[in-house]
Amino acid sequence: MKTRTAVVRQAPGKYEVVAVDLADPEPGEIQVRMVAAGLCHSDDHIATGDLPVAVYPFAGGHEGAGVVVGVGPNTRGFAEGDHVVFSFLPGCGRCRWCASGMQNLCDLGATLLLGSRFHDPSSFRMHLDGVPVGQMAGLATFSEYTTVDVNSAVRIPRDVPLDKACLLGCGVGTGWGSAVNSAGVQVGDTVIVMGVGGVGINAVQGAAHAGAAHVLAVDPVGFKRELAEQLGATHSFSGIEEAAEVARQLTNGQGADSAVVAVGVTTGEHVGQAFTAIRKAGTVVVTGIGSSTEMAPPISLMDLTLSQKRLQGSLFGACSPSKDIPRQLELYQAGRLKLDELITRTYTLDEVAQGYEDMHAGKLVRGVIVLD
Ligand SMILES: NC(=O)c1ccc[n+]([C@@H]2O[C@H](COP(=O)([O-])OP(=O)(O)OC[C@H]3O[C@@H](n4cnc5c(N)ncnc54)[C@H](O)[C@@H]3O)[C@@H](O)[C@H]2O)c1
Ligand SMILES: [Zn+2]
Ligand SMILES: [Zn+2]
Repeated sequence: MKTRTAVVRQAPGKYEVVAVDLADPEPGEIQVRMVAAGLCHSDDHIATGDLPVAVYPFAGGHEGAGVVVGVGPNTRGFAEGDHVVFSFLPGCGRCRWCASGMQNLCDLGATLLLGSRFHDPSSFRMHLDGVPVGQMAGLATFSEYTTVDVNSAVRIPRDVPLDKACLLGCGVGTGWGSAVNSAGVQVGDTVIVMGVGGVGINAVQGAAHAGAAHVLAVDPVGFKRELAEQLGATHSFSGIEEAAEVARQLTNGQGADSAVVAVGVTTGEHVGQAFTAIRKAGTVVVTGIGSSTEMAPPISLMDLTLSQKRLQGSLFGACSPSKDIPRQLELYQAGRLKLDELITRTYTLDEVAQGYEDMHAGKLVRGVIVLD
């Protein structure tokens, strides 16, 4: 079938909507009518080139939800009409990582920035005038329709609004898990969250859920700090130095138990700042992504060793999507995890590039593309 999808033809570049040929679902695949797709910063990294991809054109979007309209032959577990949230990281359920409760690190993730079928790097589901189009994370959620591997989909109850549930496909789990899983926030902790956009705002929610006594949100944008305070932050600051100072005051001079770095374009300097703000044996969680060529944060190796500090990367908040997406949905339905409040405004598919301009201008906690 033909579908419209937002692609970048080069990096740096901008998203433009084009009509592509979309493959019918093969065994192990489903075709989905997209209902909503979140504008995560990672798709912007693809447009700027910070996150290099292997194929152009490349169809963007990895946070999304929709309705199943086609199921490949011999594909069990899904039926037409099912509502699904995509997980930007697939889970096969069988590899070493899936078997170890680290589904976010599933080996199927290897081709996500190539955009091919997971099992065959030369096989693509989208083509533009006969040329293969990569699907971001194997998904391409900035599309009217898409065809994906079932390992990327999580079925959800039909009464959950898809235009909110789409956020569970990346930003929510990434932020929430950065605090709950990767920082291992404990009751009574003091936690700094650096950057409260679509990801960091959920680290604030996660830290509060885990029982942090003090959640210090840092962001240069005022309305995001206000939202953070509504969703669990006890303090907010425009810069990390002030937050670090207050963290020390709150902890008898020791420093924050953990700091989550979720800045849009994360640099080594941001990581270094967070590193000086944590206490002995504290944890810095690096969730944000920056240039793929940046090698090392400016941290004191002496401080690393003698203060026994921990520098912890975090992919999808170390969540296991098949377990955690339904759990987070239950928290949402119970009113404990906020999703509606995270969406600053919605856009049409043709407005993807506008959405990213608004992100750069600091206007969005999360923008969401809503399809008709
Ligand atoms: N590790 C993962 O699995 C994963 C998943 C999704 C997104 N990401 C990455 O996480 C980062 C955040 O994504 P997002 O969608 O929330 O982006 P976003 O643009 O919505 O939010 C980033 C926030 O950082 C703030 N900021 C900028 N400079 C700052 C500074 N010096 N101190 C504090 N805050 C600052 C911005 O004002 C903005 O609110 C991006 O780099 C994205 O690519 C990582
Ligand atoms: Zn994302
Ligand atoms: Zn796996």
